[in-house]
Amino acid sequence: MTIDSWKTIEREAARLASVRLLDLFDTDPRRVQKLTLTAPHLVADFSKQHIDDGALAALAQAAEAADLEGWRAKMFAGDEVNSSEHRPAMHWALRARQPRPEIAAVRQRMTAFANKIRPEIDAIIHLGIGGSDLGPRLLIDALKPHRRKGLDIRFAANVDGADVVDAIDGLDPRRTLLIVVSKTFTTQETLANASFVRAWGPGHIAAATAAPDKAQAWGVPADHVFEFWDWVGGRYSLWSSVSLCCVVGLKDGVFERVLGGAADMDDHFRTAALERNVPIIAAMVQVWNREACKRGSYALIPYAERLRLLPAYMQQLEMESNGKHITRNGQTLTRPSAGVTWGAAGTNGQHSFFQLLHQGVDEIPVEFILFKDGHEGPPGHRAKLFANALAQSRALMVGKSAEAARAEMLAKGMSVAEADMLAPHRAFPGNRCSTTLCIDALSPEALGALIAFYEHRTFAQGVLAGINSFDQWGVELGKEMANQLAAPLQGGSEPQNLDPSTAAWIGRLKT
Ligand code: F6P
Repeated sequence: MTIDSWKTIEREAARLASVRLLDLFDTDPRRVQKLTLTAPHLVADFSKQHIDDGALAALAQAAEAADLEGWRAKMFAGDEVNSSEHRPAMHWALRARQPRPEIAAVRQRMTAFANKIRPEIDAIIHLGIGGSDLGPRLLIDALKPHRRKGLDIRFAANVDGADVVDAIDGLDPRRTLLIVVSKTFTTQETLANASFVRAWGPGHIAAATAAPDKAQAWGVPADHVFEFWDWVGGRYSLWSSVSLCCVVGLKDGVFERVLGGAADMDDHFRTAALERNVPIIAAMVQVWNREACKRGSYALIPYAERLRLLPAYMQQLEMESNGKHITRNGQTLTRPSAGVTWGAAGTNGQHSFFQLLHQGVDEIPVEFILFKDGHEGPPGHRAKLFANALAQSRALMVGKSAEAARAEMLAKGMSVAEADMLAPHRAFPGNRCSTTLCIDALSPEALGALIAFYEHRTFAQGVLAGINSFDQWGVELGKEMANQLAAPLQGGSEPQNLDPSTAAWIGRLKT
């Protein structure tokens, strides 16, 4: 972002700081229409964000200065947008309607393998971590109504042995398919879990990896190795063979429908004009909240039990992509490029952390996610679920003054002294912002579109911040140190120059 465009954004933020969110609706009677945008399978309402035409114009100017449209074109052209690793970022190619031959070939092999293996198994154990775990885990959980009956699908990621012990618990090894998923096939946690499960004697082993030689050397038969490629980042890889368990475990055509929905969103992101482009406007809103208004986190609250794993998925997508402090050109950032993504399914969150969202000192933007059709279970639940979601976004914005709280208490017969004492506790500052997203149904297409929307928003936010969203050097140091510390914890010698605190912990924990 250029200094000039940043100064304009800062000016707009200062201007809007003294304007109440609710008043923006009076100033502009067309606000709701203007700030409600549609993309395939998705309606996005930004009208409860603390922005207006002036703020959006400043953000659009910043997008132009950052050459967002140019970077978008580069990504879709397969140019080297991941400069620190000299790679393109081509996750979108995996869901293209006319995929490249190598992509189509792997997909065909996956389907053929799924058809062959299904009669021979009762269970799948999927082992992977990070991007090799969170995506397929989300799909399998979110698309439960689309699953095949009689196939148990389990995941283990953590190198805490409890995870993998739970994964095999009660299964018949001969009727189990182990799928080892690792882009690099070097990840300590995944290989430790995979070795343990291999020793348990699963009837079938397969792998999804960008390092097929390593998978074969580890013992996966060549015809059970499903390749994906260097040009797909781990956290962008659920569209690839990483989701083999979905092809086996979901009904025919469901995974392809997920890809189709994502391709619809790709078309929108690639072609929609900037002012109607939902991932781009959403990225501007993220930049506005994080950089201009200095809000350190946002809460992602799906009012959809089946999307309960989305916050965990999004934590990797956004924080691993944009949690950087160096620009693409190697300069130190002066403003944060990402905040903390966190959240949980509503309504559950309302009964735990929403207290802080409503009455805490800091403002934390909230992103509400609804799904219009396809509700399951008792018919009366749908209205209750939506009523709660809408009530929360409205309450955050409207709030309640101490005077109103006091008057309500007095009307109920409370003494003046008690009402005076309680009024500040029962008042809500309000003026707190949120976005409401609604997918058309909890369908495979809409889920694909929603995830692709988030991928593009993340990329666009990274471009606005001037960073590379596709590398993740920040995970390396801890990995290196973990490799050095495993030996002393098992009685081996300590590395040189260990800090006293860590050395003391080695002493306490070694076996
Ligand atoms: O440690 C982070 C990370 O490299 C992620 O980016 C990746 O998704 C995960 O580890 C798993 O890596 P792999 O697929 O190579 O096992």
